[in-house]
Formats: sequence, C-alpha cells, structure tokens
Amino acid sequence: MNKRKLVIANWKMNPVTRKESQNLFSQGKRTALKLKSTQVVICPPFIYLSILAGKGFSRYELGAQDVFWIGQGAYTGETSPLMLTECGVKYVIVGHSERRALGEDNQTVARKIHALLHAGITPVVCVGETDRDTSGLFLSILEEQIKESLQNIPRQKISRIILAYEPVWAIGKKAADAMKAQDLHETILFVRKVISKLYGRKIALTLSILYGGSAEPENVGELLHNGGINGFLVGHVSLSAENFTQLLKTVDAV
Ligand code: PGA
Repeated sequence: MNKRKLVIANWKMNPVTRKESQNLFSQGKRTALKLKSTQVVICPPFIYLSILAGKGFSRYELGAQDVFWIGQGAYTGETSPLMLTECGVKYVIVGHSERRALGEDNQTVARKIHALLHAGITPVVCVGETDRDTSGLFLSILEEQIKESLQNIPRQKISRIILAYEPVWAIGKKAADAMKAQDLHETILFVRKVISKLYGRKIALTLSILYGGSAEPENVGELLHNGGINGFLVGHVSLSAENFTQLLKTVDAV
C-alpha cells in the first residue's frame, strides 16, 4: 500500500492525570518518529490539549474528540473550532457513537463538520450501525447517517473530510470480536457506493475511510490488507504505550 496510512488515537475520557497524558503522548511520539508511511493523530481530552500543544511534529499531530459549531459566545461548557486551532488541533472527531448515544444527531454532526471546514480543521466523521441484522436493514441506517451527516457539504470540500466507519457492536472489545476483513471490505464498498451517489465515483474512490472498533495489534494488518480502508480510529489500545506501539508498527509495515 503506497498511500500514507492514518491512525487516530481516541483517548476518550482518559487518563486522569496530566502527568500520564504527557507520558503517553511522548511514548507515542518516540514510536511515530520511526514510522515510514503512517500519520498519527492523538485525540486527548480537551483539558490536555494546551499542555500537549506544540509537542508533536508533522506526522504526530493533535486532534480533539468533539467541538461546538459556533466560534464564540454564551455557550456554557462548549469549545469552539477557533479555540482548538489555537492549541494546534488539526483533526476533530465528530459524531462518535458515544456522543450519539448522549443525543448527538446527524444534523448536529453536519453543523460541526461545516464549522470545522470553515476553520480549516479536518473533520473525522464517525458513522456505524449499532447492530447487524440479517435482512440488511443496517445498510440503510448507515446510508442515512452518511447522507444526513454530510448534508450540504459541497463537492469541492468533501475530500477534506475523513470518514470513520465504526460498527458500535465492535467497539471496546477484543480483536476476536471485531469485524472480519471480508465483512469490512463489503461494508466499505457499500460506503463508497453511497459517497459515489452523492459526489461521484472519483471522490468515492479516493476518500479516506478509517475503521474503528477493537482495532488491535492482532487484527490491524489483515484489516488493512483486505478491508479496503486507509487506517484506523483506535480507542482502548491507544491507552497502552506498549500495545499502541505494536499496533503502529504493524500498520506501518503493511
Ligand atoms: P475501541 O474504540 O478501539 O476501544 O474499540 C474505538 C472507538 O470507540 O473509537
């Protein structure tokens, strides 16, 4: 595989101390410095962003786990794209299933994508079904999520987003419970078909699509080889420096 691979680490609400976040970040950096064809993005909780700002390098950048869609004002508890830019954030995860479970809908995701594109930040747009049924209903749910989340995103901007396909049933488990490469390949083909209907074949073929849901050192090689994806959105494995290093090396070797 020639195209640069992308691994985005989603630390979620971890770790609980600043010291741990600094350690984890610098251990990841040590590994990233040795990678040849893999871009790494670390998404810590908001509170650590300014501590880690400026500590990465061009292939080891900062991302955030969420954003608000307005630049400034009376919005208690929210963080704007401009504030994230100030911390050197280059990517932001939107529509993660854990946020969707707290009430975030496709319309909100669409607003956030617009705001991020406007601020020059790359949106990492998460989609994925909660369950798989045998009649294929999950495919229409997936299609609806993609269409509504990308509502009014113009053609000339779509290549600036990254899609993360994360089947909710595979999140937070073990590699054995994650999606198998063949199933992933079929689903990614479907996702690209949906994108093709919206934006044309060329964009559909080149859009970066990540997989997330128990991506571990044991399964990333096979998923990358045969799954039709461009990288991973990694949760729990990114909290162990040792396992994350292993995962990055495996991805880089593909
Ligand atoms: P996981 O999480 O790697 O722990 O399954 C992935 C995610 O929720 O983005």
